[in-house]
Amino acid sequence: MAKEFKRYLVTSALPYANGPVHIGHLAGVYIPSDIYTRYLRLRGRDVISVCGSDEHGVPITIKARKEGVSPQQIVDRYHAIIKKSFEGLGMSFDIYSRTSSATHAKTASDFFRKLYDDGKFIEKTSMQYYDEEARTFLADRYIVGTCPKCGYDRAYGDQCEKCGSTLSPDELIEPHSAVSGSVPVKRETKHWYLPLDQYEDFLRKWILEGHKEWKSNVYGQCKSWLDGGLQPRAVSRDLDWGIPVPVEGAEGKVLYVWFDAPIGYISATKDLTPGWEKYWKSEDTKMVHFIGKDNIVFHCIVFPSMLKAHGGYILPENVPANEFLNLEGEKISTSRNWAVWLHEYLEEFPGKEDVLRYVLCANAPETKDNDFTWKDFQARNNNELVAVLGNFVNRALVLTQKYFGGKVPACGELNDYDRQTIADVAAVKESLENNIENFRFREALKDAMTIARIGNKYLADTEPWKVIKTDPARVETILYVALQITANTAIAIEPFMPFSAAKMLRMLAVDKFSWERLGATDLLPAGHTIGTPELLFEKIEDDVIQRQLDKLAATKAANAAAEAAQHVEDQKDMIQFDDFQKMDIRVSTILAAEKVAKTKKLLKLTVDTGIDQRTIVSGIAEHFTPEELVGKQVLVLVNLAPRDLKGITSNGMILMAEDASGKLRLLQPDEKTNNGAVVG
Ligand code: MF3
Ligand code: ZN
Repeated sequence: MAKEFKRYLVTSALPYANGPVHIGHLAGVYIPSDIYTRYLRLRGRDVISVCGSDEHGVPITIKARKEGVSPQQIVDRYHAIIKKSFEGLGMSFDIYSRTSSATHAKTASDFFRKLYDDGKFIEKTSMQYYDEEARTFLADRYIVGTCPKCGYDRAYGDQCEKCGSTLSPDELIEPHSAVSGSVPVKRETKHWYLPLDQYEDFLRKWILEGHKEWKSNVYGQCKSWLDGGLQPRAVSRDLDWGIPVPVEGAEGKVLYVWFDAPIGYISATKDLTPGWEKYWKSEDTKMVHFIGKDNIVFHCIVFPSMLKAHGGYILPENVPANEFLNLEGEKISTSRNWAVWLHEYLEEFPGKEDVLRYVLCANAPETKDNDFTWKDFQARNNNELVAVLGNFVNRALVLTQKYFGGKVPACGELNDYDRQTIADVAAVKESLENNIENFRFREALKDAMTIARIGNKYLADTEPWKVIKTDPARVETILYVALQITANTAIAIEPFMPFSAAKMLRMLAVDKFSWERLGATDLLPAGHTIGTPELLFEKIEDDVIQRQLDKLAATKAANAAAEAAQHVEDQKDMIQFDDFQKMDIRVSTILAAEKVAKTKKLLKLTVDTGIDQRTIVSGIAEHFTPEELVGKQVLVLVNLAPRDLKGITSNGMILMAEDASGKLRLLQPDEKTNNGAVVG
């Protein structure tokens, strides 16, 4: 028998306040957590959902430095954007807090101090990278180098974003400072470590033996961490942004962001309710952490060890971490702007909040990485939301208006097909509940849609628009049944699509239904007058999708250009002055230019070098038209040995620069110069 809990505490990973939220965050963490919480509320359970911005850590200070503003300004900006966009999408957190709050500073500080006083930390002095130019220690993302595992040359001191390996700064090959670019030196510094190795037995028992029901991706990652053996982890950093280490002699040191952030869940609960302790300290509470897969070690290994070390706190009952969502086949990346940003979506698709919620749930990366494509977004909207859900609801309501003036007709005698249909609808409840309680949200959403599918099929099969001519009494029963299925649909979709559920209630002229009545056939009594039917969803046309694809293509082009601009050829081998002197370079003027027949690249140029007029064949036809070259002054290497190209003898070479994107540029004197002038 599964344990019965009196209350639920749902946490959602605190997003870093160094950028807006994108669809990857939503599909991985926030949509599932919102569905779960809304469902529990609908079932009348005692549940709170807490979240907030994660406002410390190196990425925030790096961004602040880059923009020349303070870290506080950065987090203020993104906290506001994130909070507003979450509200726009209907996220129903009971509190959306932030880790730069006073409550949090005190909570995290006290937490550290208790562990310190109880002797739970190891104090260790070690040599760490220090940037002498910027006068700062280089923790985590402040240090960049080549990944020892995959060779990626922009890996961070804490992680390689290419291969996903967790790293320490000492493992990086050719490390350099992300702040100044300089090569760092090593300096002595003292830090506090949580000896995770001492928690291995506890973690093994608790997770590997006690929580075999966890998702296999989560359980598997925990097992491999534990099998690999745990090391003490530093919980402080040399940084000037964060919560000061509350210990004497710790000037300039702050709590490591991954130490303070999860405590943010506790602080947020404190900000929400004076009764916070019953959520955190009672074994009757079921705590569930919603996170992405990159957060597993912190929520399953580190934070539980912290809670255990502190004592008095409960541990999570489950950590249903999701895998990653890709975008159009590529990894979502904040720094490369490869994302669909929530705040932009809400602006560009007003009134379509539920479409995004639907698509991201239907396609959530629950067991493996998944791909979001705009074509799939369009198809799911048009073929599922419009054609199934919207179509069914609209037909039921419009026909009721048309035949019965908007009054729910009386239910006559049910035939076998009616009874089977009703039974099929009623059967959905158990499966839907089971799937949500076990974090299978994709399946749960399918269940909810099954009710609309049943309704759609019922109307198609019973054809009330035909029967009305011959047997109006039968149509009363058909529409009675169809309206009950509509009401059931409104109940079932509410955790997933709260905006549409609310709209359906309005159209049905009902305040609310109780979840427990899902499956019932008397949700709308005969004689009840429904409201005006409106369309639940509208078709999304190709041009709307094309605009989004164009936007992504522009991002890709901008990234490629930026990357190319960074690429500079290595310097060639050293030469002597004499070697250089051998080259005879002259200012010349192009007198004539024509394409060489049957070639793509070659132009035949007639050039006045001041010494003579001569022919030069140059492979630049893809870069310049003959017309734009005539009359231009250029630099020519005149003593290059003649070469035959397509039967034409070329006597020299026009000098050009090739930029990072492969474009050629002519080199010219900055003012008109006499032909034959010597370059050197
Ligand atoms: N900010 C982290 C991330 O986006 C998540 C922090 S979760 C918390 O990956 F538990 F530490 F708060
Ligand atoms: Zn790597």
